Amino acid sequence: MALERTFSIIKPDATARNLTGKVNAMIEATGLRIVAQKRIKMTRDQAETFYAVHSARPFFGELVDFMVSGPVVVQVLEGDNAVAKYREVMGATDPSKADAGTIRKEVALSIGENTVHGSDAVETAAIEIAQFFSGNEIVG
Ligand code: CMP
Repeated sequence: MALERTFSIIKPDATARNLTGKVNAMIEATGLRIVAQKRIKMTRDQAETFYAVHSARPFFGELVDFMVSGPVVVQVLEGDNAVAKYREVMGATDPSKADAGTIRKEVALSIGENTVHGSDAVETAAIEIAQFFSGNEIVG
């Protein structure tokens, strides 16, 4: 098994409902370690850069508006197969399609207000982590 890092965002729908601790408990129950974490108000520029891959999608404006609508918690998660393991516990993007026991099934409100983001690959994770953390902020 490969020791990996992945990037996570606990989104504004979760911070608004005081669910950071519940999401963190579900993350830690998988064995993943939260090796960096900070609560920030994302700027519009940060959100547009972060989601640039979706800029042509019809929901892009809505997505950026949502991500800057309240505090988020950005995180680095570390563990064996961290990218796949986190995607498994997050569940499907659309919470109505997510498996029981996943974060999105248990907590998320809709495909937009879907509580968490997780990187889709190790290479993407490295890029996403570098957008929010410097090396000395990550303590494994
Ligand atoms: P995330 O994993 O953060 O990556 C892109 C996000 O776009 C995704 O989670 C959803 O929150 C959001 N998204 C995807 N499809 C839609 C949609 N049809 N309407 C609104 N938001 C969407």
